[in-house]
Amino acid sequence: MELSHLYHALLALEMCFSVIMVLCNPVSLKGNLDSSPFPSSFLFGTASSSYQFEGAYLSDGKGLNNWDLFTHKPGNIVDGSNGDVAVDQYHRYLEDLNLMNYIGVNSYRFSISWARILPQGRFGSVNKAGINHYNKLINTLLLRGIKPFVTLTHYDIPQELENRYGAWLSPEVREDFKYYADICFKHFGDRVKYWVTFNEPNVAVIRGYRSGLYPPSRCSSSFGNCSSGDSENEPFVAAHNIILSHAAAVDIYRTKYQKQQRGSIGIVMNAIWYEPISNSYEDKQAAERAQSFYMNWFLDPIILGKYPLEMQEILGSDLPVFSNHDQKKLKSGLDFIGVNHYTSFYIRDCMFSVCEHGPGSSKTEGFALRTALKDGIFIGKSTAVDWLYVYPQGMDKIVTYIKKRYNNIPMFITENGFGENDKSDSPTEESLNDLNRVEYISGYLDTLAAALRKGADVRGYFLWSLLDNFEWTSGYTIRFGLHHVDYATLERTPRASAIWYKQFIANHTSPQEFSA
Ligand code: BGC
Repeated sequence: MELSHLYHALLALEMCFSVIMVLCNPVSLKGNLDSSPFPSSFLFGTASSSYQFEGAYLSDGKGLNNWDLFTHKPGNIVDGSNGDVAVDQYHRYLEDLNLMNYIGVNSYRFSISWARILPQGRFGSVNKAGINHYNKLINTLLLRGIKPFVTLTHYDIPQELENRYGAWLSPEVREDFKYYADICFKHFGDRVKYWVTFNEPNVAVIRGYRSGLYPPSRCSSSFGNCSSGDSENEPFVAAHNIILSHAAAVDIYRTKYQKQQRGSIGIVMNAIWYEPISNSYEDKQAAERAQSFYMNWFLDPIILGKYPLEMQEILGSDLPVFSNHDQKKLKSGLDFIGVNHYTSFYIRDCMFSVCEHGPGSSKTEGFALRTALKDGIFIGKSTAVDWLYVYPQGMDKIVTYIKKRYNNIPMFITENGFGENDKSDSPTEESLNDLNRVEYISGYLDTLAAALRKGADVRGYFLWSLLDNFEWTSGYTIRFGLHHVDYATLERTPRASAIWYKQFIANHTSPQEFSA
């Protein structure tokens, strides 16, 4: 036997052995059906987004979106790649549904490409081929016993809106979003029972208008390297328009569709757990402020009708104001909160003490410095992803925090997952043997279970992600998949984590719950 064959055979053996170890490990798969904290209606799924998965960027009448333009500009994506093909789920969804059925998920979170439905926003006609595509996907999912959990926009918007009026910076965008949402409810709402208006608008505005790292690449010179923008003002204007766009879509859903269609609608936030770096009153207050300037920024107006008090006090007239009419529309403006939780950070106060310049320390971020280090030790194991530290307790803490602040409104964990560096130079088997990912997921699910046992109304969990995919500005250099994707052939291969998740789901659900 050649040496390289022997090496591959040994790796394959090691992978089998690891999977057996993983499946036999009583801690990682702890719990059986009788003691499972996950109710029988609980959704177990995987999550994805149109730009990161679909590819087919010019197929069947799709219009160009902001990410098409952004990725095609040299220098924006670390490996010079783009989502033109991505993992080609537009054409390969049947194959991907087989993978989902194999794992045994009962739900799939995906997003609709706005520019595939409305290539020119409300300034052009509806693209029938786009409607047909999502009809096929939704119908097949349902036939396979998988509930569609649909996001209207996951960072991607028709470029037309950017060109015409600066997209989120203009109140005009609310009309566009309302128009688009109405079309989606009308065409798909008889079968889609879970709607998300926005994926992580906090990340979209911070990266789009404060650091300028995402389109439309706007920022002030002290915050990043952009040709124009105003990092201290524009994120708040864009957020305000997003919040009111969300409210407009919810209003349409509630008044025109919800009664007959009987679905629910929510928003998905990126949710980081912020741990005070010390027990001091100042650091504890700073951790609260960090949450307000990141997640509550959107959730407070939508649920409570006003911006968090800390934001009002610190930002004063820089924070846009809601009219009485807006406030009425906003209150209780969702049926569930989508929580994308991956990581945690320490927070140090910068309001009462002087601290070094860094992420979170500015006025626009609430004078709350974010750091992963305390006394030279990381909050959790560091990973290939610069913002991802493994801190499983954060899941319980963030869920319990949201439960308290918003009176236990139903929640879904709409994303949680583990990224690794692309190791194209090493044999694929190495990447298939992803025990770090298994350890991560199992730890986070354990503490999620603890939060449920304490009464948190969490109704579903979606892993990011079914497949490796286009990881925004990191391109294809970071892999988040339960399945490895060979980007030359687009072949999908299950990792140990896919097998682990399959077993976890089987242990926490009864088989009949998954029949079509
Ligand atoms: C985003 C995904 C992204 C994932 C991993 C989430 O914040 O919604 O689009 O791929 O994190 O970075």
